Amino acid sequence: MKGVVLAGGLGSRLLPCTKITNKHLLPVYDRPMIHYPLRCLVNAGIQDVLLVTGGSFAGHFLQLLGNGKELGLKELHYTYQEGEGGIADALRLAEDFADGEPLAVVLGDNIIERNIRAAAQAYLAQGGGARILLKRVPDPERFGVPVFAGDRIVRIEEKPEQPRSQFAVTGIYFYDHQVFTLIRDLKPSERGELEISDVNNMYLERGQLAWSELAGWWTDAGTFPSLLRASNLVAESGANKSDEE
Ligand code: DAU
Repeated sequence: MKGVVLAGGLGSRLLPCTKITNKHLLPVYDRPMIHYPLRCLVNAGIQDVLLVTGGSFAGHFLQLLGNGKELGLKELHYTYQEGEGGIADALRLAEDFADGEPLAVVLGDNIIERNIRAAAQAYLAQGGGARILLKRVPDPERFGVPVFAGDRIVRIEEKPEQPRSQFAVTGIYFYDHQVFTLIRDLKPSERGELEISDVNNMYLERGQLAWSELAGWWTDAGTFPSLLRASNLVAESGANKSDEE
């Protein structure tokens, strides 16, 4: 399995800090934000990774990460997303890199306490399709939210005003090669982006979307309150530092 970290976008919710560097290079406690999603992949045994970035400070990633060896990567590839067309628009750029192999995709501002190794193994065992990881949160309206019938997901709603469950769809996804065909059929949402929730709904319509619940804490870090929360969680408990489950 190969890994993709999506670190494009303009980080406008973190202005003025993102006037001078990319959002994913801002510190979360004692290291740059981008270290966490990369470690998340390395800790799951995924060492061949594509980093998708964008904006005016893409070169800063190369200065910080180089060839990725220090973080335990075998290969670190880079590509550049023009504009801010959405998460699925950024993922589109990984098609040649994936070369038909299954992918673990992690959003550059997602931080987890533990490990996704078990989820990666469960994905490989399911034999194709997609798998998402859910987390119970107090504020699901900020995220993609699954609607359930029993324990079956029937739909995913992106930032619903009235969430139909207490779960967030985290920014950790497993996809097979079909994802690139599905992205080609996407239309921009009301916010002008190609939405990853639309991709997940397409897998759902094909009966090919599995899910598991993520153990340990999870947070995004793309707003000032969540960035502070992320730093505090890491400071209190550590995150992705060891290879332990
Ligand atoms: O954090 C999980 C949530 O992430 C999910 O629950 C939502 O379903 C999903 O849409 C996403 O929501 P956000 O609105 O919080 O995503 P945001 O625009 O903050 O982007 C998250 C990361 O995705 C960002 O740190 C970098 C990457 N990204 C985003 C955009 C818009 C790109 O690489 N390119 C982009 O154009």
